[in-house]
Amino acid sequence: MQVKKAVIPAAGFGTRFLPASKTIPKEMLPILDRPMIQYVVEEAVAAGITQIVIVTSRGKEAMADYFDRSPELERALAQKGATAGLEEVRRVASMAEVVFVRQQEQLGLGHAVLCARPAVGKEPFAVFLPDDIIYHPPKSGIAQLLEVYQQFGASVVAVEELPREAIRNYGAIEPREVAERTYEVLGLVEKPDPAVAPSNLGIVGRYVLTPEIFDCLEGVRPGAIGELQLTDALALLLKRQKVYACRFRGVRYDVGTPLGMLRASLELALTRPEYAPHLRRWMGDLLHKSQ
Ligand code: G1P
Repeated sequence: MQVKKAVIPAAGFGTRFLPASKTIPKEMLPILDRPMIQYVVEEAVAAGITQIVIVTSRGKEAMADYFDRSPELERALAQKGATAGLEEVRRVASMAEVVFVRQQEQLGLGHAVLCARPAVGKEPFAVFLPDDIIYHPPKSGIAQLLEVYQQFGASVVAVEELPREAIRNYGAIEPREVAERTYEVLGLVEKPDPAVAPSNLGIVGRYVLTPEIFDCLEGVRPGAIGELQLTDALALLLKRQKVYACRFRGVRYDVGTPLGMLRASLELALTRPEYAPHLRRWMGDLLHKSQ
């Protein structure tokens, strides 16, 4: 079955970006010329997803305005002959059908995904965590997961090899390799102690999930850090159906922290012809001076 819907949890406080995120949703902070969330929306759209469900919360209305039409701005740009800007503004509002659901209380990632149940219904769907940007043209992170989904007809999580010590901040899987970069998942645990983690394959922010995950999410109890965890629901799903993992190709940027965002900004700027030559020159000068 084709995956046409995606869920983007974006209801958190963004505490690691305070004070910037006090009035601007973290997901709206820019990486170069577009907000963080646009990178995952574009990844979804390029993979054939047509409906995006953004899970949001109070005070984050800027995201809804961003993906909406803006007739006044469009008129002003048209009058000035600012064609490129006008096209971009229109493109953002027409990329996909973007709908919003509210998470009334921030009870965890699992709860956020459960809030999207009425909008998703009984079909497979993708989940994108906007803190994780995966750069791998031409085959994006989600495109790689969708191939595994099409092959096995089961849920798929993205995984990456992490330093042992880092696994305590991630969900970890117990893998059984079934093909190159593809594993059957035998078990999952959220934020394990590195000493007992089932592997150093950590889950990163891309999932393709079968709709049965929603029943499992209804059944989870607070887990790691007292939150309702998506990883725990996947562990319940394992009792009913198989789950796979895809060790995707590409670089992942954790843009959930200012330093990670800076790294992504610099590296992505080097892939953009309008920025790269300037950045190379400035950085060259700067590094030379700071030695
Ligand atoms: C969430 C998931 C975790 C995953 C991580 C990837 O954790 O619960 O399984 O490894 O995202 O970024 P969080 O970063 O929200 O604590």
